Amino acid sequence: MAYAKWEIYPEGRPDIDKLRELMDPDDALVDDFGLLRKAAHEYFSHCNGEMGKRPHILLALLVTSSRHLGKGAGSLLVQWGLAMSDKSGLPAYLQASEAGRRLYRHHGFAELSKVEFNLTGYGLNGIEVMTEMLRYPPTSTTHAYIAYQNLTT
Ligand SMILES: CC(C)(COP(=O)(O)OP(=O)(O)OC[C@H]1O[C@@H](n2cnc3c(N)ncnc32)[C@H](O)[C@@H]1OP(=O)(O)O)[C@@H](O)C(=O)NCCC(=O)NCCS
Repeated sequence: MAYAKWEIYPEGRPDIDKLRELMDPDDALVDDFGLLRKAAHEYFSHCNGEMGKRPHILLALLVTSSRHLGKGAGSLLVQWGLAMSDKSGLPAYLQASEAGRRLYRHHGFAELSKVEFNLTGYGLNGIEVMTEMLRYPPTSTTHAYIAYQNLTT
């Protein structure tokens, strides 16, 4: 019905060096979308590498079967990770597609950055917007610090 992959990095990512590696050139030759996969690889590696310097929980994947959209399955899987985030004090981080952005906003994620991929440059149509999003648990000391900074500047 629905699938999520949450990755938990209490001390930041142990694979930061691997994230800096370029995509295997052979992967670009598998089908006609090698250039798009290369752009996606660079985007995700860069974002995950930067966030990976800090402790966090990453929502790496979320998808609901088209037959079961809008029934709350995606929300349940997001809530599972947010409960882990609240319990551990680790902020929750993700890169949202446009299909997911609204759902994540409803669950308390704030937008950090947006990147537009013009798909016509990759043999497809339209524009895909990716949004980095972050949600601090209510008890997070980092969150409290940022809130304090905002109040005092
Ligand atoms: C994003 C995605 C995972 C959402 O999955 P979902 O199971 O439909 O999510 P939910 O049902 O929990 O929520 C979807 C909407 O239905 C609403 N909803 C939830 N339960 C509901 C119910 N019982 N009755 C009516 N509406 C309901 C939610 O409030 C939500 O509304 P919102 O978009 O205004 O927040 C799904 O659209 C998807 O797989 N998209 C393609 C892959 C993708 O882009 N994934 C995100 C990558 S970051």
